[in-house]
Formats: sequence, structure tokens, C-alpha cells
Amino acid sequence: MAPERCNLFLIYGSQTGQSKSIAEDIKTKAESFNYDVEMMSMDESVEKMPWKEYRFLIIITSSTGDGDPPENAGIFWRKIRSKNLGNDYLCHLEYALLGLGDTNYTTFLGYPKSVEKQLQKLGAKQFYKSGWADDAVGLEIVVDPWIENLWPALENQVLNPQTLPDTIPASDTPAEQSSVITTPELAVVSEVEKPLTVSYQKQEEELEKCAVELANLKISVSPLSECDLKVPVLPVSYLELKFNSELMFFPEDVLRKPMPSSRTPVFQAKIKSLKQLTSEKAAKTTLEATLEFSPAEIEYQPGDSIGVCCANCPEEVDALLHRLNMTEQADIPFKLRVKEEFAAMKSGTKPKYEVPSHLPNLATLRFVLTRCCEIRSVPRKAFIRILAEFSSDDAQKRRLLELCSLQGSDDYTRLVRQPELNVLDFLNTFPSCHPPVERLLEQLPRLLARPYSLSSSPLKDPTSASFIFNVVEFPIQDGRTYERKGVATGELSRMLDKIKTGPTDSVGPNANGRGFSLSVFLRTNSGFSLPKSSETPLILIGPGTGVAPFLGFLAHREELVKRDPSLTCGPIWLFYGCRNRDHDYLFKDDLERWHSMGILTRLLVTFSREDKPSQPKYVQELIQLYAASLVKLIDKGACVYVCGDATNMAKDVMQAFIAAFQSGRQLDEEQAKKAVVQLQIEKRYLQDIWT
Ligand SMILES: Cc1cc2nc3c(=O)[nH]c(=O)nc-3n(C[C@H](O)[C@H](O)[C@H](O)COP(=O)(O)OP(=O)(O)OC[C@H]3O[C@@H](n4cnc5c(N)ncnc54)[C@H](O)[C@@H]3O)c2cc1C
Ligand SMILES: Cc1cc2nc3c(=O)[nH]c(=O)nc-3n(C[C@H](O)[C@H](O)[C@H](O)COP(=O)(O)O)c2cc1C
Repeated sequence: MAPERCNLFLIYGSQTGQSKSIAEDIKTKAESFNYDVEMMSMDESVEKMPWKEYRFLIIITSSTGDGDPPENAGIFWRKIRSKNLGNDYLCHLEYALLGLGDTNYTTFLGYPKSVEKQLQKLGAKQFYKSGWADDAVGLEIVVDPWIENLWPALENQVLNPQTLPDTIPASDTPAEQSSVITTPELAVVSEVEKPLTVSYQKQEEELEKCAVELANLKISVSPLSECDLKVPVLPVSYLELKFNSELMFFPEDVLRKPMPSSRTPVFQAKIKSLKQLTSEKAAKTTLEATLEFSPAEIEYQPGDSIGVCCANCPEEVDALLHRLNMTEQADIPFKLRVKEEFAAMKSGTKPKYEVPSHLPNLATLRFVLTRCCEIRSVPRKAFIRILAEFSSDDAQKRRLLELCSLQGSDDYTRLVRQPELNVLDFLNTFPSCHPPVERLLEQLPRLLARPYSLSSSPLKDPTSASFIFNVVEFPIQDGRTYERKGVATGELSRMLDKIKTGPTDSVGPNANGRGFSLSVFLRTNSGFSLPKSSETPLILIGPGTGVAPFLGFLAHREELVKRDPSLTCGPIWLFYGCRNRDHDYLFKDDLERWHSMGILTRLLVTFSREDKPSQPKYVQELIQLYAASLVKLIDKGACVYVCGDATNMAKDVMQAFIAAFQSGRQLDEEQAKKAVVQLQIEKRYLQDIWT
């Protein structure tokens, strides 16, 4: 496609790997269109600035923290804001930018939008409208069409440079963002006609049964069931597996490899203890894990978090292997490589396809499906297109094509993405579908480590660290074909079951952990750390497991005071919330002890399921109640820390502070919002929040 030999410079900023994997996808596609592509992280690209040898720059970047650059984009950000760069510094460049964010976070797309503004300030011109993807509703809704339409835009630009549009300013509202993708939203690669006859009896019966019901994963209703479909291109099959029982495979070599966002190498930490914190009557089960390590392996600060490299559930991996007819080969080592026709053609040329970086070249299927691939990931539309290709039953094939089609987008969102179905749900629902395992390895993304905020202080014990978490549970419903727990929290909860049911005579430091260990690493600092001076007043807001880092802060303060009783300390207020004081009031004894010692100045707790109408239910209501005192504390230099649920709590808490500023400082809403933004800029309103 590329009309002349043309160079693209492709850079990504990625915290958890999604932008990187999208960049890799774009690279592969660009090379198949004959573009020469150089790809690297945004930080790596700084050395080559101002990239004079390139005309086209493609940027894929996410936001992390609170609208901050991902860990491999911070140097880039500092560089492009240097005062000594003229406004023509990048004027030779034409760029296209794809931003990844999540509307659950208050600073939606903070970093990508700032990058765009700065590029424009430095003279770069936009050749293709920016895509703003939202992880809360599904990145692919914007990412897939953005990539498909990138090629005609690029081709047009190469052929007609004079048509370069005036720079289009970055849009600020989600409403504007959703309109940036022009139709047609999916490449029209193949038109699938409707007729495919419903061939098997069961399907017909089901169709009759739900004649008036809505569509489900397996069955569609008119007009979707009747129309022609526009579906994605069938992705190329480029990987090949060669089993060889003579090969030697050492899993430890793979497990030690660094993960995205790791500050330390991955290491094995023994589980010192694992226990349930909530009562059996609590609606959610909360566990505490304490890890043991040598201080040489990890040196942490309160507020840090660790990444837990988790393993998929063994029964689920077995079921997947069985469904793929690969049970017998599951433990035979294989070599994984790119098929010859897609590998480098001539020496010195770059290959068009590469083995995905999260897959080892030598492994077993059981290992790869357990430790390397996110088998729970929601299949992207291109993946469903592959599943359709390998379905022998016409009706099932048709339904799969509908689910990945432009016309079936609503069904895809409602029936696949929202209930978070995975490839095994698809294989269970569509029994005639038999994809080769290579196709899964090509499509399944990296199994990411799960971050957890540490809830302990290294001053208390530098050889151990704790974290607390809720066990995530998904019932069988909405198309899910089996019950499951979260990957990481499920693994830990299975360990606890084994500990509970194991022999009771074990003694020593690992008595409660019984020899279990976890692969972990310290994550790069989020900036969620204690202020330098112990005199700074602290306002801590952490309902539920959001209290975790504050337990670390308070334990740290207790140790500091123990070591130096004359230490001057500012007040600490903690806003904490749970459902019921008897079932899930986490660390009640510690919190009350710190309060009685004076370490904690105010301990303010809400109980959302206790039927006492006069009492506030949620922390944000308590903040409103104490608004005047909180504003006074902030005026005295207090830092506000918010930790926990990003979906509702963090937004409501911010809203409560806006209202507090309105009443406490007599500001209108706009001025109060600016006051909160100012606190964020001064790093005095810090959030460590997750969805
Ligand atoms: C910086 C950071 C710090 C974090 N610190 C903590 C912490 O200290 N404690 C903690 O518990 N978690 C914390 N998390 C969240 C944690 O990393 C995991 O996302 C969480 O434990 C689920 O992991 P999992 O592998 O068990 O679930 P997965 O298999 O990854 O499934 C997660 C999916 O479950 C859904 N889900 C999430 N919660 C629920 C729920 N309660 N009920 C139903 N569905 C749900 C979500 O849609 C999500 O897609 C943190 C996250 C970040 C980004
Ligand atoms: C700890 C954390 C903080 C985040 N902060 C923001 C944010 O401030 N603004 C935003 O739009 N998205 C935010 N996100 C969402 C990510 O940008 C989004 O999930 C993106 O797809 C991640 O891409 P990556 O894997 O390339 O980093 C955050 C996600 C996490 C886990």
C-alpha cells in the first residue's frame, strides 16, 4: 500500500502494556503495507530527538496515576516541555495520536491530551484525527476503527502532502472525543451474507423458545440475524509450534523476566501468613497476605505497591487444553517461532511478524496458558473473527460473525464485553468451534501482574510486607459458562483453602503460609508517599481495602515516634468506611489503638449497611459533615490522600471537597474546582485508585 518507501516513527507510552501491544499491532500492519517502521518507547525516543529523518510520527500512549505519564514516557514529557525548544522544533513532523484512558479516573486522558497540546506548540502538524479510547467501555471501540482508518489517511498524506489539515486542537470532552472517528468505523473487508441456514435441531428449538426474547450470546434476533455483515479482516496466522519431548524447559528462567512497570526484578517471596479478615457473614471476603523476603530484594516505602505475578486457575487451564484437544501435548516442550514465510526474508531486513514478547520461545502449553497469557481477557473482534473461521456449524459461524461485525457492535458490548466473557466461554457456547492453539497464542494478551498497595511499614520489619484485598467473584450468569474468582485473588483464596484444610501441626514462620510463595516485584513509585515533614497535617480517605496504604502510613508514624518520642507530628485524620462493624471493619483494633495513642488524631468511620438513618453511610458524607475543619486543615498545609475504588468513591470524594471549598472559602463551583486542581498540581491531593 505505501506508495513510496516511507518511514514511520512509532512511539508508545505504556504502564501496563496495552499501548505497547497496540503499537506492536500497528507496526505489524504498517510493515505488511510496506512501510519501514521504527518503534520504541517514548522515553527511548528522546535520544534521537528531534527525529529529523522522519516525516510521520505515530504516538500511542495511556495515562496513569492521576493523568500522569506512564513509566516509560516521563523523560519524554520533561523533554518536550523544555523551555529552550523553539515553536518550530517539530515543524517537520506530521503526527497521529491514539490516547488510552479510562473515564473512571478524574483526569481522563490527562497525559495523551497534554502531549498533543505540546506537540502542536512545537510545530508538529496533525495528519489524522486523534483517537481517544476509554478502557471503561472498551478500548477497541475506538482503537480498531482508528487503526483501520489510519492507513488511508497515511496513504493520502503521502500522495497529497498539500492536503495536510490545519492543526486540529485536542478536544476536551468525552462527547467530542467519541465523534473523532469517522465512519465507516470498521474496514469493509468482507461482506457476509445472511443465508447460512440454521442447521442443528437444538438451535431451532432455542430460537422458537425465545422468539420474543432478546438476543443472547448464541442467538441473535432480527434485524441483526437478517442483515449483511461487515466484519474485520481475518488476522494472518503467523506462529508455529513444534513439539519435541527431548527439549528441556526451565520455567524459572521465564518467571524471572521483568514485567511492565516493575522497579525491581521479579523475585520469589515466601508467604509468611495468609488470613481472612472479614467474618463469614460479610458480603465480600477480604484477605491479608504477608510476604517474607530479604531486604536486598526489596526496599519499600509506605505508599508503594507491589505487582503480583499471578497464575491462571489450573482447572480452567485444563478445561481450555481439553477443549483445544491439546491435553496430551500439554506438558511436552515446544519451540515457538514465526512461520518461515513471515520471518525475515533477507538478512538485514526486519521480520514482518515476531513472536509476541510475553511468549517464551521454548515452553509447554500448560505453562504458557497458566503463566503467560491472560486467558480471561475479553476476545477482541478480530479474535472472534478467527473463532468464526474455525466453526464448522453454519449457525454458530454466522452468530460469531455477527458478534464481530460492525452491525453487531451493540451485541458485542452488551453480551461479550460487559459480562467480561473469555475465550473458554466462547468455546463452551460454540461447540463446533475448534481453533488451533497457535491462533490463541497469537491473540491472547500478556497475563499482567496485579498491583496491590502495601499496608505495612518497613520500619517495623524490613523483611516483610503485607497487602489486603477483596476476593473477586463472578457467578455463572450473563453468558458466563462457569463460576470463577478473579485470577490473582482467586489464586490466593485457593492457597488459603489449602492452608485451612492442610495438616495443623506445622510450626515456624511459615506455619500460616505453609511453604507457598508468590512471584512479585516492587512497582514504580506512584508519588503516593508520605510528605517529608512529619509536621504536615494528613487527611486520609480510604474506605474498604482503600485503607491499605494508610495502615502503612500509621504503622510508620508509630515506629518513628517510638524511636524519637520528641518528634513533632502534625494531625492525622482518617476517613474509613465499611458495611458493618461486626463483619468487615478491617483492622479495628489497630486503628483504635493508634487513635488512643494520639498517632491518629481523628478516626471517622461510616457503616453503610447499618440501618441508622441519622448516621452518614459513606465517607463522602462524612467529608461534607466536617467540611469546615477540613478546609482549615488544608489551609494549614494538609495533604489529602484518597485510596480505593475509582468508579464511584474517588469521584464523590472529590465532589465533596469541591463542595467543602465552596462553603468554607465562599467560592463558586468553578473556583472551588480550580482550588482542588491547584491542590493536585501542588501534589497535595493524591489519589491511588483502581477500578
Ligand atoms: C495501583 C493499584 C493498587 C491496587 N491496590 C489494591 C489493593 O490494595 N487491594 C485490592 O483489593 N485491590 C487493589 N488493586 C486492584 C487489584 O490490582 C486487582 O485488580 C484486583 O484484586 C482484581 O484482580 P484479580 O486478578 O483477582 O481479578 P481479575 O481476574 O483481574 O478480574 C478483575 C475484573 O473483575 C472485575 N471486578 C473487580 N472488582 C470486582 C468486584 N468487587 N466484584 C465483581 N467484579 C469485580 C473488574 O471488572 C475486572 O475486570 C489495585 C489496583 C491498582 C491499579
Ligand atoms: C493506577 C491507574 C491509574 C490510571 N489513571 C488514569 C488517569 O488518570 N486518566 C485516565 O484517563 N486513565 C487512567 N488509567 C487508565 C489507563 O490509562 C487505561 O487503562 C489504559 O488502557 C492503560 O494502558 P497501558 O497499559 O498502555 O498503560 C489508569 C489506570 C490505572 C491502573
